[in-house]
Amino acid sequence: MSELNNIALQIISDGKGILAADESTGTMSKRLENVGIESSAQNRLSFRETLFTADSMSNCIGGVILYDETINQKSKNKKIPEIISDQGSFPGIKVDTGAKTIAGSEEEKVTEGLDGLRERLKIYSDLGAKFTKWRGVYIISNEYPSKLAIHSNSHALARYAALVQEANMVPIIEPEVLMDGEHSAKECYNKTSDVIKKCFEELILNKVDLTGIILKPNMILAGNKSKKKISGEEVAKLTIECLKKSVPKEVPGIAFLSGGQSEIEATENLHLINKFNTTKFIMTYSYGRALQQGALKHWSKDLKDIEGTQKIFNHRAQMNTLAAQGKWSKEIEKK
Ligand code: G3H
Repeated sequence: MSELNNIALQIISDGKGILAADESTGTMSKRLENVGIESSAQNRLSFRETLFTADSMSNCIGGVILYDETINQKSKNKKIPEIISDQGSFPGIKVDTGAKTIAGSEEEKVTEGLDGLRERLKIYSDLGAKFTKWRGVYIISNEYPSKLAIHSNSHALARYAALVQEANMVPIIEPEVLMDGEHSAKECYNKTSDVIKKCFEELILNKVDLTGIILKPNMILAGNKSKKKISGEEVAKLTIECLKKSVPKEVPGIAFLSGGQSEIEATENLHLINKFNTTKFIMTYSYGRALQQGALKHWSKDLKDIEGTQKIFNHRAQMNTLAAQGKWSKEIEKK
């Protein structure tokens, strides 16, 4: 077993999942302002630290994805990556610098951040990061994602992953097909398959060790404005079929993004995926909103209620960890 495979497995085994706390300052500001909280560096840290010191960190959360601001912050003289490691979890870092409009296109984006990446990776590794994340994002319509968008993002994801492995960290590879739109689940299935297949073609070309990565895809869902919604069972079956056909067997695990699903929906769909999983891939979560929403709402009403906020976060993390083992139920959710 390679060192990277070993780290990847430790992050996602036994129902453990990933807390995506890597919102850029712009995104985090929107999240905080939505619940009436001023987005100061201290407030961003206080909320995140409340999550990182919760009990569920040690038995549910195998890794935390941080943003550049947070990985450089300290609390009570302790560095944030150290607080996470002390909980038995792995600190990780988002290393892309965001999605920018493709030249000549009005809507499609390519993710940037390759310039100077080798040097930045060294700094993050010295700060304690053991894994990294890069997100390529795709919109769906009749003509999108275009060949150009798929080619550009897959190429960038593969060059990123190769550099990350060179720096001895595990790359999380996130090709996200957005759920925005009226498209059917079948369209999401077809386009997600195209995107993932091309991504692996490029990863192989760049000699990335597939046993030392974690794939972070979207689930197969009908668009959020689609009139043809499908059941959780159908989401699970289509998602498994798509991944079975497009992901090479060497990949140890898949950690889904929540992508705008509600907390319960994201948990239930993950549970059903594990219930029906006929592959050898570990299927777990790497949720941002679907792990944090309830806790953030509670915290915003009383910034001093750390215990109450942690209780809500712990419950969500535990529910997702059960779902990652196919052991969740509506009854357990309510307890
Ligand atoms: O890049 C996206 C995040 O890591 C996952 O966020 O679960 O809210 O979609 P989400």
